[in-house]
Amino acid sequence: MYLSREEEEICRGDHGPTLQKMMNILVALGEIYGAERLVPVRSAQIAGVSFKNIGDAGLQWISDLNGRVRVPSILNPSGMDLCRWKEMGITEEFAYKQQATIDAYRKLGITPDCTCTPYQLYDSLASRGDHLAWSESSAVSYANSVIGAMTNREGGPSALAAALIGKTPKYGYHLDENRMPTHLVEIKDELAGADYGAVGFLVGRIVKDGVPIFHLRSRPKSDELKALGASMAASGSVALYYVENVTPPAPPGAEPEEKITIDRSDVDDVYKNYSGRDADIIALGCPHCSMQELEQIAKLLEGETVKKELWVCTARKIAESCPELVAKIEASGARVFCDTCMVVSPACERYKKMMVNSGKALIYIPGLCGIQAGFGTLKECIDVALGRL
Ligand code: F3S
Repeated sequence: MYLSREEEEICRGDHGPTLQKMMNILVALGEIYGAERLVPVRSAQIAGVSFKNIGDAGLQWISDLNGRVRVPSILNPSGMDLCRWKEMGITEEFAYKQQATIDAYRKLGITPDCTCTPYQLYDSLASRGDHLAWSESSAVSYANSVIGAMTNREGGPSALAAALIGKTPKYGYHLDENRMPTHLVEIKDELAGADYGAVGFLVGRIVKDGVPIFHLRSRPKSDELKALGASMAASGSVALYYVENVTPPAPPGAEPEEKITIDRSDVDDVYKNYSGRDADIIALGCPHCSMQELEQIAKLLEGETVKKELWVCTARKIAESCPELVAKIEASGARVFCDTCMVVSPACERYKKMMVNSGKALIYIPGLCGIQAGFGTLKECIDVALGRL
């Protein structure tokens, strides 16, 4: 791999051991994947934040680093609401180590907003054509597909390395030749809301790491695109997709060789096969809720009282920007938790079954939280929480 003089100096350790370690990560990755050089990134989004996932060894590794990030950098959700962790049932010991993890990242100059939807908080992190080093799979999908930026699905250490060096190896989705559609997905019927998560659940399993291009009958809103991409990234490992006449277009050239057709009955089967009516907790906000989603939830809960635990996950900045919506949701007995989510927090493990309106959470909950998961529309989830279903 070609390295500039400064990059070589960093590799040799002339700029200190932290940057040397970070550059070695980037060079090793670049050599494995055949990158010709490094490319500057506009921002980094760093996974490996929840203490549930990184443990003591991860915390030690991050704490041992010295330096400042060279590009705006933001964190993935942590294992708890950083203010209301006691209400989540988080132990003192976990809270102490989680806070120490956030502090270690903060010391490196990383913005301690813990969210998988950084694009809902800041326009400045990514624009069309920018190279990025983002690691959360749904954020990667949104950045590549909806924003039209270019990022691989980084691991926590490689995103952190890119943040501290300001560059990432140029391979994979940083190159147009790897951004060509591989599958044409024809959706026969109109979709709305959680249907997009259900479609993503089905399509990801078929296309795996391919690049689907959708021909849709309905025009998805940004929250629906967010749900579609998150779900495909979890059921397969889709990091880029196109929706005709909606997302930035594919580079000109190759036509997809495979064709998939999905109709209403396929989508309905997902709801039927994964009923959540017997759930003891309902969790919304995977990926983190936007303000529009908080509005929908507040409307459905207006004047009602929940009979089951209902959690709504969002970014702290989003919650702080609409305190009246948060108050309306919480007046029902539901709780709006920030900085965390139902998957990366250990708090959900004490329940038996979680109902979600997210295809991604449906896939991850059993494996990562060890409890059952059910799936429904937003309205069904709320009705189950209210004891109506
Ligand atoms: Fe975000 Fe957690 Fe879902 S990180 S995408 S809310 S699993």
